[in-house]
Amino acid sequence: MNILLLGSGGRESALSWKLSQSPLCTKLFIATGNAGTAQYGTNIAIGINDFESLKDFCLAQQIDILFPGSEEPLVNGVYDFFKNDLALAHIIIPGPSKEGAQLEGSKAFSKKLMARHNIPTAAYAEFDENNFEEGLQYLDNHTTPIVLKADGLAAGKGVVITSDKAEAKAVFTDMIRNAQFGDASKTVVVEQFLTGIELSVFALTDGENYVILPEAKDYKRVGEGDTGPNTGGMGAISPVPFANGAFLQKVIERIVEPTINGLRSENIIYNGFIFFGLINVGGDPYVIEYNCRMGDPETEVVMPRLENDLVELVLQMEAKKLNEVTIQHSPKAAATVMLVSAGYPGDYPKGKLITGFETVEDSLLFHAGTKQNNGQVETSGGRVIAITSLADDLKLALANSYKNAELVQFDGKNFRKDIGFEF
Ligand code: AMP
Ligand code: GLY
Repeated sequence: MNILLLGSGGRESALSWKLSQSPLCTKLFIATGNAGTAQYGTNIAIGINDFESLKDFCLAQQIDILFPGSEEPLVNGVYDFFKNDLALAHIIIPGPSKEGAQLEGSKAFSKKLMARHNIPTAAYAEFDENNFEEGLQYLDNHTTPIVLKADGLAAGKGVVITSDKAEAKAVFTDMIRNAQFGDASKTVVVEQFLTGIELSVFALTDGENYVILPEAKDYKRVGEGDTGPNTGGMGAISPVPFANGAFLQKVIERIVEPTINGLRSENIIYNGFIFFGLINVGGDPYVIEYNCRMGDPETEVVMPRLENDLVELVLQMEAKKLNEVTIQHSPKAAATVMLVSAGYPGDYPKGKLITGFETVEDSLLFHAGTKQNNGQVETSGGRVIAITSLADDLKLALANSYKNAELVQFDGKNFRKDIGFEF
């Protein structure tokens, strides 16, 4: 199988590491990739939303599987673009149709889907220019904290949580009237605040059947003790100690199956990954958000714990035979610690030389914002390298990742010192 993976983060490094181990993988290309993905395949300089160029490349290289790592091409309709073109329709895509990708691409779409199928989630109301004044009144009467969400994709910045009603109204106004996130915030979802611990559960579905991959917990805030601004993710662990069999059974019965059955009953084409962003409220799972792809940095701990061949899983998905598959979870624990650039998630410098790779033992280095320059590796993003370790228990995995976090060096390196600290 010739595979083209779309994306350039730590998630794509972990996916390319996993895909390249498969005996079914002949050639692996990554658009656009980074210095880490280059160890497992060939990086190509094609934008992930440039569907015409992706088409030309797929035909020239006889690509069999197009694997979207990131949500953007899915929300932009890469699935439909390929399936509606006779020359490309045979290419397998583990990812939903444009309509299915609305699960992530539109908060209002996902909230309505959950309401129709009685899937537990925070109570909400939806506003836009047409009921703007009603929205301001709604905020006046809302209990605090208030959760405001831009409907569309806003690069992880579209959620504001505040206990200050004046601030809530200002944000609401900025989003709808001042197009703070462009078209993405023309519609705003206002939600009840839920209190609990979050976790991420992943399913791969063929539209009828599904398998559950190892669950994970990510650490979103930049500072220790979950303080400071939200980031793309500062680290992750898998398994999640509180996600025991009874809890995961509730997740499957109340959330995973109603979601997959709901999509199917509404004839929404969905073959691919569903990321369930969940919160445990007093032992009961609620959906915070859906994503239509794997998580980052969760993938950096999920892939090392997944013992099945990922290419084979994609083929079983395509054959609609996921009911015949047993997922083998490694009994080991995985932890990843993200090294980030000084200033991230605000402005940060790029082009800093990274050294110390050869001193690392007992961990996998999944590059995120890195690039090669004259035989050396430099920083090129906010999140730079995910240091993943797999060990007999979580404490050992964390100890290995933290040992190596000291050995990999670049100017301004920062990382959270308390990943997995609460367990
Ligand atoms: P989202 O982009 O929907 O995942 O939201 C980003 C983050 O905001 C989540 O990971 C949660 O930490 C937080 N959040 C979102 N919705 C809620 C909610 N209803 N109650 C509490 N926290 C929330
Ligand atoms: N780790 C959260 C995400 O991938 O959206």
